[in-house]
Amino acid sequence: MNNRQLFLQHLAQTTDFPLLIEVEKAEGVYLHGPNGEKYIDLISGIGVSNVGHRHPKVLKAIQAQLDKYLHLMVYGEYVQSPQTKLAEALCKTLPAHLDNVYLVNSGSEAIEGALKLAKRYTGKRNIISCVNAYHGSSQGALSIGGNEIFKRAYRPLLPGVTNIQYGELADLEQINQDTAAVVIETIQGEAGIRVGTKAYFQALRKKCDEMGALLILDEIQAGFGRTGKFWAFEHFDIVPDIIVCAKGMGGGMPIGAFIANKEVMGVFKNNPLLGHITTFGGHPVSAAASIATIEVLKSESLIEQVETKANLIKSLLIHTKIQEIRNKGLMMAVKFESFEVLKPIIDRAIELGVITDWFLFCDDSMRIAPPLTITEEEIKNACQLILQAIEES
Ligand SMILES: Cc1ncc(COP(=O)(O)O)c(C=O)c1O
Repeated sequence: MNNRQLFLQHLAQTTDFPLLIEVEKAEGVYLHGPNGEKYIDLISGIGVSNVGHRHPKVLKAIQAQLDKYLHLMVYGEYVQSPQTKLAEALCKTLPAHLDNVYLVNSGSEAIEGALKLAKRYTGKRNIISCVNAYHGSSQGALSIGGNEIFKRAYRPLLPGVTNIQYGELADLEQINQDTAAVVIETIQGEAGIRVGTKAYFQALRKKCDEMGALLILDEIQAGFGRTGKFWAFEHFDIVPDIIVCAKGMGGGMPIGAFIANKEVMGVFKNNPLLGHITTFGGHPVSAAASIATIEVLKSESLIEQVETKANLIKSLLIHTKIQEIRNKGLMMAVKFESFEVLKPIIDRAIELGVITDWFLFCDDSMRIAPPLTITEEEIKNACQLILQAIEES
């Protein structure tokens, strides 16, 4: 069997229509197929490859760590310098009170940990999250997700979860004394890139404070520079109680984290001790890659360039079939009339060598989330091919 047949035969499928793009090598913004195919990756493996594929500095850090050690011990026991240095680097990007990092393997796991932490710290049980939010696919993360179609088949899920409308000031009234936490994507991703206002986030922060609820910001998709700030919440002059990250954090390696104040995180130590456990969380190779990723974002001034690159894309993607472009930095959604109009465009763009896709809960919009390393030339080329795909589909 060839690779494609093996994929269909032996790998679990989650749809009947996988993209089936076969990749032999990836570098920078490009994916290369086995038969000379070359694709510009405009989705970064869904918001992961912020520093591009196989950034040389990330590879170097991985290689250096390979020569030292791989897994040594379950999380939280041994002093492993990739973890300690990463925690220090993360805390330096954050306001002073976010000074304690719990490292995990993925976004969903980070959300699970943050939910447990909020329940344990506040002693309350109810969680508020948003309509059309996506926080992951594990039971807890799914429970606070905001799309009933994806939840229905798996009920019963966690009790005590209420969905409010993202960005809707009136809905903040639903946060009350029984609310342990409000979990919210700072920029909603799978809803099709929805951006709240500063007034909304400030009111949300105030309401959480009044009610003694923790504010958990999910920056799994928006974090690590994608929106033009290291953390998206910096756009809104607010500070969360817990920040959650993954995806772009590892430069292509699996890692996630939830970060809080040391006093808050301290509840995991008692009654019961080992309140949250992971074997592989903060794997030393992933942690080394993550440190390098933060260094690359800074040394190459990638975050500072985000706004200019996003504006270039917006100025180039002009067509009668494009109804709107919603974005915060390089987290972008290009809206068409319907899925039926968009789908052939995405298919044709792939044939022409540009990879985009749509969103879990918004199928009339094209996702554009390129590596932040993408150059002006690469943007021009990609946009020209998208326009060609629109014309030809
Ligand atoms: C905002 C957000 N939160 C959580 C997750 C879940 O992360 P993971 O797939 O690493 O479990 C995702 C993944 O797409 C996400 O976009």
